[in-house]
Amino acid sequence: MAYHLLKGKRGIIFGALDEKSIAWKVAEKAVEEGASIVLSNAPIALRMGKINELAKACNAEVIPADATSVEDLEKLLSKSMELLGGPLDFVLHSIGMSPNVRKKIPYTDTNYDNFQKTIDVSALSFHKVLQTAWKLDALSEWASVVGLSYIAAQRTFPGYNDMAEAKALLESIARSFGFHYGNRKKVRVNTVSQSPTLTTAGSGVEGFNGFYHYAEKMSPLGNAGAEDCAAFCVALFSDLTRKVTMQNLFHDGGFSNTGVSQAVIEGVEA
Ligand code: NAI
Repeated sequence: MAYHLLKGKRGIIFGALDEKSIAWKVAEKAVEEGASIVLSNAPIALRMGKINELAKACNAEVIPADATSVEDLEKLLSKSMELLGGPLDFVLHSIGMSPNVRKKIPYTDTNYDNFQKTIDVSALSFHKVLQTAWKLDALSEWASVVGLSYIAAQRTFPGYNDMAEAKALLESIARSFGFHYGNRKKVRVNTVSQSPTLTTAGSGVEGFNGFYHYAEKMSPLGNAGAEDCAAFCVALFSDLTRKVTMQNLFHDGGFSNTGVSQAVIEGVEA
């Protein structure tokens, strides 16, 4: 059921690769709630993914941008304002990639060029999006910017590798930029710390299946899926959450505040 929460709002959604992507679900939900959107992804992902299907369903343009390139971001933001007819009311940053994870290089034998790439793609790109928007004055008053994070920013999940550092930085950028943008233009900046979710990026993490099921058994409400995440993002883009900013919001069925559950105890009892 649609509530028209985003009626008349304009936004950019980064990171929809295929129908499993969290960004894919957010795009569908945002449009269902009345928004007009532009979709963006890295040029290589546009060639490999299925974004045109989504664009058609959402009546949206696709504009390629490597989120590590300020030049690409400038073009994307300017063109989006032109296409949508004004400044943006929301942005979803749903971008993550670690060459160390992809190549299964252990954390204790890291390749530092890869590590820098992880940080650039998965965290600094969030700063670049925000700074480019700041310079172009591309966000409207009370606009809402959301990045997607994971609890490995606070606690160690060994297979998550250098993405843990990237997420810690991503969350920190939300706090820091949220302060400046809030003062300047009442813009909100938050991260959503999502349950393990079966997507291309998610299933690339070593031991993903294990911690997906572990989180499911630990969380009183069960894991939050991509559709649940989309609903939460839409709530954050809407005017119903205008005073929420600089937060890392756990969207995980209660996992983050659970010490242990009966189901997990039963699984390990000798
Ligand atoms: P996904 O693989 O569908 O999405 C990741 C996206 O990042 C892809 O569309 C990819 O093309 C894009 N990307 C990579 N490099 C890029 C670049 N240089 N410029 C622009 N885009 C680039 O996977 P998913 O799971 O939907 O990931 C979205 C976000 O959610 C990521 O930040 C991820 O870390 C986060 N997240 C995922 C969880 C999971 O278990 N799947 C759990 C918590 C957070």
